Amino acid sequence: MSVTPIRLLGDPVLRTPAAPVVDFDAELRRLVADLTDTMFEAGGAGLAAPQIGVGLRVFTWFVDGEVGHLVNPDVTPVGEETEEAPEGCLSIPGFRYDCRRHLHVAATGWNLHGDPVRVEGSHLLARAVQHETDHLDGVLFIDRLDPDARAAALAELADAAWTGQGEYTPILKVSPH
Ligand code: NI
Repeated sequence: MSVTPIRLLGDPVLRTPAAPVVDFDAELRRLVADLTDTMFEAGGAGLAAPQIGVGLRVFTWFVDGEVGHLVNPDVTPVGEETEEAPEGCLSIPGFRYDCRRHLHVAATGWNLHGDPVRVEGSHLLARAVQHETDHLDGVLFIDRLDPDARAAALAELADAAWTGQGEYTPILKVSPH
């Protein structure tokens, strides 16, 4: 188990576009394991490598009981439908804001062995894939809010208890089963 500290809003790594993975090696396997363990411990639906301070294009998700990971993802909307729903981020703990996302997406990429992978999802899985892919581009979900909602959110977040703390190590407070 390698639970890793999660970087918080304000950390420059969250605003830095991540680099493509080139080597599908033991280091990548360790990164996917660290992301998965940390995501579980924090109770998140997804976690991207920059959130644990690693500037590589890798993320994990845990949605509807299914855990997965994607390396060097490429996400495409399927159809025109969008959905506005509450969204949160482990790097912005304790806050949720309504965010509009594509309802259906298809993502292609690779698994940690370097095999090509295609993931299709709707609703929460689609939202997680879009949210985590944004992280790899240095984009946070608060950037996607309507201008008024974004201004209100930023004002609220400036007063958050963790502002300026840099990182935190998730500790599971409640047994999952
Ligand atoms: Ni996030």
